[in-house]
Amino acid sequence: RTVYVNGDYLPEDQATVSIFDRGFLMADGVYEVVSVLDGKLLDFEGHLVRLKRSLKELAMDNPLSDEDFLAAFRALVDKNAITDGLVYLQVTRGNPGDRDFAYPAAGTRPTVVMFTQSKPGLADAPAAKTGWRVISIEDQRWARRDIKTVQLLYPSMAKMEAKARGADDAWMVEDGMVTEGTSNNAYIVKGGKIVTRALSNDILHGITRAAVLRFAAEAQMQVEERSFTIAEAQGADEAFITSASAFVMPVVEIDGAAVGTGQVGPVATRLREIYLEESR
Ligand code: PDD
Repeated sequence: RTVYVNGDYLPEDQATVSIFDRGFLMADGVYEVVSVLDGKLLDFEGHLVRLKRSLKELAMDNPLSDEDFLAAFRALVDKNAITDGLVYLQVTRGNPGDRDFAYPAAGTRPTVVMFTQSKPGLADAPAAKTGWRVISIEDQRWARRDIKTVQLLYPSMAKMEAKARGADDAWMVEDGMVTEGTSNNAYIVKGGKIVTRALSNDILHGITRAAVLRFAAEAQMQVEERSFTIAEAQGADEAFITSASAFVMPVVEIDGAAVGTGQVGPVATRLREIYLEESR
């Protein structure tokens, strides 16, 4: 695989980053995941806008122009002959030369890393036909989940807990209300109405979420942005999640209780179809 590191395209085993990089020592970095279908980048513009917002919130320099980011994404898709898959992008605050809690002096170059993952048949994931089973778990992440940082230890712990319990993912709960999945936004459907938590610092502002809510409105579906409990989700007609890598994925079971019929429902199925049709 050819990867990108600070302007160079290198074989993955020749790409290196300093052990003093703040991404490594402090989880001081942000990232984006952009899907590729039929060689085309999905929602690239939205991901770039969010990346720049994450950088700004953390007072990190933006290392590349929009054109350079796009050119690098395209070059990697090309060099690695990606038909279906994703491009991962990470920007960390770089190497101050030593460990220090204070940010390095202005002018320290951020570290930019990008790589691809090939996922043939990504849009035809069999799980979309059977749906995911999720567990609920307390949300113990920090309070700025609107910034897409590489601090992913708690979501990893939650994913491991889900796996240990034979489930596919975990929905995190704070003050009795669902925030989001380990790496996706959460939704329920009741009486034809789509319900998802409103945007705030409590959740990541999903790029797929924005697209799906726009398509839902265009298709005259009702959308309500408000919080919901696990009990309400278990009593809903349908549930689903959205993310750049899973698109729209139905959720058929929560903490062992079937959602609706326990089968993949029509609203999630339709939104998945619309999303895949409109964004590729
Ligand atoms: N995760 N919420 C969280 C906590 C996420 O990590 C993600 C994305 C989302 C969905 O955002 P988007 O639709 O922009 O992908 C919501 C990516 C896919 C990941 O970490 O792999």
